[in-house]
Amino acid sequence: MDVEELLRRDLNPQQYEAATHLDGPALVVAGAGTGKTRVIEYRVLYLVSQGVHPRSILLLTFTRRAAREMLTRASRHNPLCQQVEGGTFHSFGYAVISRYAHLLGLGRPLSFLDEADRETLLQRLAAELGFTGRKVRSPSKATLREVISASFNRGETVEEVLLKDYPHFLHWAAEIERLKEAYVRYKIEHNLLDYDDLLLYLKVLLEQEAVRKTLGERYRFLMVDEYQDTNKIQAEIVYLLGSEHHNVMAVGDDAQSIYAFRGARYQNMFDFLEVFPGAKVIKLERNYRSTQQILDLANALIEKA
Ligand SMILES: Nc1ncnc2c1ncn2[C@@H]1O[C@H](COP(=O)(O)OP(=O)(O)O)[C@@H](O)[C@H]1O
Ligand SMILES: [Mg+2]
Repeated sequence: MDVEELLRRDLNPQQYEAATHLDGPALVVAGAGTGKTRVIEYRVLYLVSQGVHPRSILLLTFTRRAAREMLTRASRHNPLCQQVEGGTFHSFGYAVISRYAHLLGLGRPLSFLDEADRETLLQRLAAELGFTGRKVRSPSKATLREVISASFNRGETVEEVLLKDYPHFLHWAAEIERLKEAYVRYKIEHNLLDYDDLLLYLKVLLEQEAVRKTLGERYRFLMVDEYQDTNKIQAEIVYLLGSEHHNVMAVGDDAQSIYAFRGARYQNMFDFLEVFPGAKVIKLERNYRSTQQILDLANALIEKA
């Protein structure tokens, strides 16, 4: 069976339209279970069948689980598709930063701070700055990490974050801002990267024309799953990566983001259309995760009760 036949068999007409979209920006919007990830899977297959080199396709998503699913599914039909590149924004960031560390003035070896390391470090720096030992209730190390992280991810000052999310700690704004500075300095001095840095430095690198051109030429087709969960900086990374060719397909849920607490911006879905004017918008209407089975079960249980 040739690829077009396979696509016609396995996809509904809207999915088919999305999967066979070749050039230019596109936004696929639909609810859960409508086959959004399936569109990515079959579009990879389609592009490769059209002669696109699998290594020039980059798939990005938000969680490791979603990344794994996307890549496994993409390589199901054609072993060539195993060569497509992809993962989370963070893993992609790590790969790019490792390659271009010299441009950032980062020394080697680079080390990675996970969330627990980060809290320990923040707590230690806070103690050195004399924050602890006060009588008034102070923010926990987890709160400090969240506030500082949100401040980076949303491009807001500590005070702005506190105002929105932790108004009861507003009187700590100046101290936490100082802690943030100490933390940044410490990381630079010790070649340490945390989760936020992976995105931040990736963006800084992409802002350099040479890097942006190289990566834009390397990855001619960019697809982003779970786009509704991207935060501001991830969306900017998408714009930068797509700025050379505009071959970007964003696939997202039209329901409110479940990751809003991490700074995900539902607004990114709308912004996409402004950054890439003329983007084709494709809506998937049919839902394949049957709610009927759940309803039947519920009815059966009610009848028995
Ligand atoms: N056209 C289709 N025909 C049959 N099953 C489909 C079709 N599209 C999607 N599915 C199935 O529906 C389920 C949800 O698809 P998925 O791509 O994960 O949706 P989403 O990413 O929108 O949540 C999967 O089990 C998938 O195989
Ligand atoms: Mg999906």
